[in-house]
Amino acid sequence: MEQSTLGERRQPAVFITGAGGEVGHGLISTLSGEGRSDIVATDLRDLEQSLREQCASTYLADVCDRDALDRLLAMYQVKEIYHLAAVLSTRAELAPEVAHQVNVTGTVNILQIAAEQGRMYGEPVKVVFPSSIAAYGFGSLAQKTKVGAVTEYEYCKPSTMYGCNKLYCEHLGRYYAHSYRQLAQDSVQGDDKNRGVVDFRCVRYPGLISAETIPTGGTSDFVPEMLHAAARGEAYKCFVREDSRIPFMTMPEAINATLQLAAAPRNELTQIVYNIASFSPSAGEVAEVVKQYFPEAIITFEPDQRRQAIVDSWPEELDCSAAKDDWGFTPTYTLEQAFEEYLVPRITKQYESTP
Ligand code: SER
Repeated sequence: MEQSTLGERRQPAVFITGAGGEVGHGLISTLSGEGRSDIVATDLRDLEQSLREQCASTYLADVCDRDALDRLLAMYQVKEIYHLAAVLSTRAELAPEVAHQVNVTGTVNILQIAAEQGRMYGEPVKVVFPSSIAAYGFGSLAQKTKVGAVTEYEYCKPSTMYGCNKLYCEHLGRYYAHSYRQLAQDSVQGDDKNRGVVDFRCVRYPGLISAETIPTGGTSDFVPEMLHAAARGEAYKCFVREDSRIPFMTMPEAINATLQLAAAPRNELTQIVYNIASFSPSAGEVAEVVKQYFPEAIITFEPDQRRQAIVDSWPEELDCSAAKDDWGFTPTYTLEQAFEEYLVPRITKQYESTP
């Protein structure tokens, strides 16, 4: 247990926001499975009992409420933060200012807390932040198709509030990591107490597919929705065209990659933001694979032009070479292997036990 400057003892903690979301579920079970007993998790809503059991403590807290976060974290020495709380792209278009508040103000609060705790203990606080393919934005479908795979720093002109928020927060993370309070009185050249106290690391997720949970409020949701509907024996109307193509990966791959980035030696990271993805199927190709495993599945394509436009503005493929070179990212599955080895076995079991 660490001693704070005020003399009281504080529990070391890995702090997770948005713990009740899809990524939170996967992250908490992986960390707890690895024997981490210092997980402190928060969400706006009550967490399920099974999640609570895997954490040292859980709290109801709003990432926008700085005072509440301060009161809560006064009990802990936060060593690592996984800041997952966010309003996803479709939902954000229904209430853009609310999304901005959660996605940006929430992130600034977390970065400030990390900076304060890092300074207080003289040790960098790791902030791991999921960004998204929504940070990109193509002007037209023709341009998207022509360009193909994109690196982290090109075509970043998002058309959604969520994408703008994620891209800006990537920059804020870089600012807190490298330039925070660069002109403050206590910043002495060559001996800067503010620099380096936030160790910000960011993965840009593609669409994620989990066998255990279903996303809410995203625009890449057509793939997980299609699969879960088939597994439940329900017909599915896909809201994008059959030829719509964006990158995806399975949830366990996303969690493993996130933890791999978190564990990488800081001096080996040449970037703040890393693309990760495993496969880039079209919606029609996914439907074909779904039908191989669930031959009764009824999948129709009835594009919603506005959600379609968002998907058309996202890249069809990500160049993940920086993640491969710097910290050894490798996709586990092709689309077919993902269905064969993870999605179908797990989802079938899940719906057998919870009809
Ligand atoms: N899954 C996110 C969304 O659809 C994109 O990263 O909003």
